[in-house]
Amino acid sequence: MNVTTRVLFAASEVYPLIKTGGLGDVGYSLPHALQRAGADVRLVLPAYRTVLTQVDSINILGWLDVRGAKRTHSVRILEVRHADFAFPIWLADCQVLFDRPGNPYVQADGHDWADNAERFSVFARVVTELARDVLGINWQADVVHANDWQTGLVPALLGEFPHPPKRIFTIHNMAYGGHFSLADFNRLALPRQWWTPEGVEFYGGFSMLKAGIVYADEVTTVSPTYAREICTEEFGYGMQGVLQISRHKLHGILNGIDEKVWDPATDVHLLAHYSANRRQPGKALNKQALLSRFGMESDEIAMQVPLLGMVGRLVEQKGLDLVLAALPYLLSHTDVRMVFVGSGDSKYEAKLRDFAVKYPTRIGVFIGYDESLAHLLEAGADIFLMPSHFEPCGLNQMYSLRYGTPPVVYRTGGLADTVIDASREHLAQGIANGFVFDEFNFEALIAAIERAIACYAQPRVWQALQRTGMNHSFGWEHSAQSYLALYRATSNK
Ligand code: ADP
Ligand code: GLC
Repeated sequence: MNVTTRVLFAASEVYPLIKTGGLGDVGYSLPHALQRAGADVRLVLPAYRTVLTQVDSINILGWLDVRGAKRTHSVRILEVRHADFAFPIWLADCQVLFDRPGNPYVQADGHDWADNAERFSVFARVVTELARDVLGINWQADVVHANDWQTGLVPALLGEFPHPPKRIFTIHNMAYGGHFSLADFNRLALPRQWWTPEGVEFYGGFSMLKAGIVYADEVTTVSPTYAREICTEEFGYGMQGVLQISRHKLHGILNGIDEKVWDPATDVHLLAHYSANRRQPGKALNKQALLSRFGMESDEIAMQVPLLGMVGRLVEQKGLDLVLAALPYLLSHTDVRMVFVGSGDSKYEAKLRDFAVKYPTRIGVFIGYDESLAHLLEAGADIFLMPSHFEPCGLNQMYSLRYGTPPVVYRTGGLADTVIDASREHLAQGIANGFVFDEFNFEALIAAIERAIACYAQPRVWQALQRTGMNHSFGWEHSAQSYLALYRATSNK
């Protein structure tokens, strides 16, 4: 590809416009990295209510008649600008489907929006039409890069046309399959020929994630280890067979992090700035601020004992059962304090709240979504907890490394690819940056936390660990090149 590659990047969430987790971060930073590497990028996402309130210079590109569930929607296509974006953003504006408050996938009571099948099939159809320049705006995609089940139908839909653009599909999490029924399939008038075990059919229903895997030219996932793991029964969610036969086109490309947004030397959410060479007093001031934010003492003793922090979606994936099982032991056998920021499963929310009520001097809990507090926690905590049962990539452990807050992680997925255990050997080699445990049980988690606490008590060793993490480059450059190489490789087929 000698001329600039035109990449249409489709995602269901994009920071800072709308974000529920790491997909939002990647939806922002990967397209920018691609653009910096020379691609001509357009980003397309649904015009959720909160997105519309944040953008400016709205330009109507046109209207598309799009097939929904037994009805046709007239979808307005907007081209908008936003100060944080280096390229135009295209929005699929369909009020009945997207003009709603709150979370893009679930309603206030935590249940999925009942019409998600229609919402994301309409979005996928819009992406397909834009890629083909049906509106005649003289921008036709060379590559369409779709992400997760919400855009899984895009590769399949594009395949219905002659000479489609290259179709890249990235799996960010196999746990979310976009499963719907045969009745939905019929209502959406999706092509009959897709309904086979080799196509989108999945145990009597259909899966939008499977559609992406089956029909894309290249499938990627967000770390090399996860790419291997999802081909096994344990991590494949029933799709290991499909993934095994797709092995020739399956690649693990590690996510990067946005080193501008997540930089302790400039982060606007921090109370004080610091860097690898000058960690104090900045890091301590953030610890103090974090403790006060949770109404906890920040006297000399509190400042001396390790502060453990965890931030993320409160779902089973993140190892909350282990954490909750470990808490009583940590409270009785150690003097650590702990702070949690997250929202998700109500059973975990309630249990964490109970602990905070019972042990207000030791445990601080914020249930909800707070971007600013997440940054402060990464900076103010001493040790970051991320004992996920599985983790496609994980961004939080990379943020914590960059913020001098060594993480404790289970050896899985992207955690295994980014965290190097503080074993004697790794410490001697100067490559250790955190604590990794190998058995997924709370005893192993406690043992890893105890190792972290012991290491924290040895300032020299601890500082070396912090420096190694902080000095490592987790930027996107390398991964962006891998994606560009993949775009090129497929286009030569
Ligand atoms: P996942 O995508 O599985 O949720 P990642 O580690 O890849 O996990 O990314 C999580 C992202 O979402 C991080 O940017 C993290 O800070 C953010 N995040 C998750 N929950 C919250 C919350 N309650 N408040 C603020 N940020 C959150
Ligand atoms: C998913 C995964 C997480 C990954 C993120 C971005 O939400 O759970 O591990 O970092 O996507 O790719």
